[in-house]
Amino acid sequence: MRKLLERFNLNKIKDYVFQKEIGGGNMSATAMYKNSEGEHVLVKFLLYPRNKFELDRFYQEVSSMKKILSINPDACIPKLITEVVQIEDTQIYYFMMEYIDGIPLSNIIDSSSEILTNINIARIMRDLTSIVCDSLSSGILHKDIHPGNILICNNETNDYKSLVLLDFGVSEYWWKSHCMGSVEDAFRHIGAVSAWSPEFIENPKEISVSHDIWGLGVLFYRLITKGWPLSSESFGEYMNKIRGNILAELALDQIEDKYFCYILRRCFERNPWHRITSANLYKILNDYVSGRIEIISKNEQIFEMYKNYDGDLWVCTRCMQVTHPTGNMCTKCGNRDDEYLPLEYCINFG
Ligand SMILES: Nc1ncnc2c1ncn2[C@@H]1O[C@H](COP(=O)(O)OP(=O)(O)O)[C@@H](O)[C@H]1O
Ligand SMILES: [Mg+2]
Repeated sequence: MRKLLERFNLNKIKDYVFQKEIGGGNMSATAMYKNSEGEHVLVKFLLYPRNKFELDRFYQEVSSMKKILSINPDACIPKLITEVVQIEDTQIYYFMMEYIDGIPLSNIIDSSSEILTNINIARIMRDLTSIVCDSLSSGILHKDIHPGNILICNNETNDYKSLVLLDFGVSEYWWKSHCMGSVEDAFRHIGAVSAWSPEFIENPKEISVSHDIWGLGVLFYRLITKGWPLSSESFGEYMNKIRGNILAELALDQIEDKYFCYILRRCFERNPWHRITSANLYKILNDYVSGRIEIISKNEQIFEMYKNYDGDLWVCTRCMQVTHPTGNMCTKCGNRDDEYLPLEYCINFG
């Protein structure tokens, strides 16, 4: 790559000087550059795309990031510094983004790092779910959520503080694909096989945010067990297992934390319409992180309800009981009301 950069005079881009190569695949490469003020940036290159789809994907990557950042400028993804730029008279393209000083989550899983305590796993999952929520509100599906695309930010305490989700290289504008039914290249850039959901295998054009929730489930499983949810001898067998009853395949009984088991079950719900929503996933992970779940789980009956409704519980203003109102109706006393109170009114969170 160094030679290629020299050949095209890319040792320096604007005020930034090449420092080191970071990653490189067939057609893409990433490198760190630095300016005279010591600011680092990450440059992602697309080298000689083989066709229009690959080029479109590169533009889509920047467009997806832009959409998310326009909805939430603080979303935990790298900030963009440039649009896609084509090097004159070549088939080399690049864009620049903020350089994130961090360690890939894949390295952390593979090492015997002490960061992966239960509470940190829940924090990591909550923060990723929050990015999925940000993406959803911009109509973007990431489609490639795996540990190599997540950087755990470095900090002095060597504990978990924050993360950044990278690589929107196979992301898709979901609303467009749904409204216009035109993801011609749906089969071309498909992301890591480990993140494929049953509905994606059935029809990659018919996916929604639930597909990313499945990817989060796989990641969650990896963080807890350091293993993979499924193993198989062949690709065909693997596909069949995903199509089949994955919950029967998973060794969930061996997972000690029963709350984690419940979350995994909800992420691996085969029917995407019944799978847990990103909003509820965020809420229940946050209840774990904040210690609320410890208090809720002391009341067995309410805890059962909590799991049945993925944490979507309220307090009725008439009977003051915990309920999951359907069509504005309290399931306990039948009262119809627009206003329900938060759980705090019934359970003492101290
Ligand atoms: N903004 C960034 N800051 C720091 N490192 C990054 C950044 N973006 C990517 N990387 C590193 O480069 C690697 C490849 O980038 P990625 O966008 O995942 O490209 P690819 O499409 O080749 O998978 C990542 O796994 C990560 O280690
Ligand atoms: Mg990647």
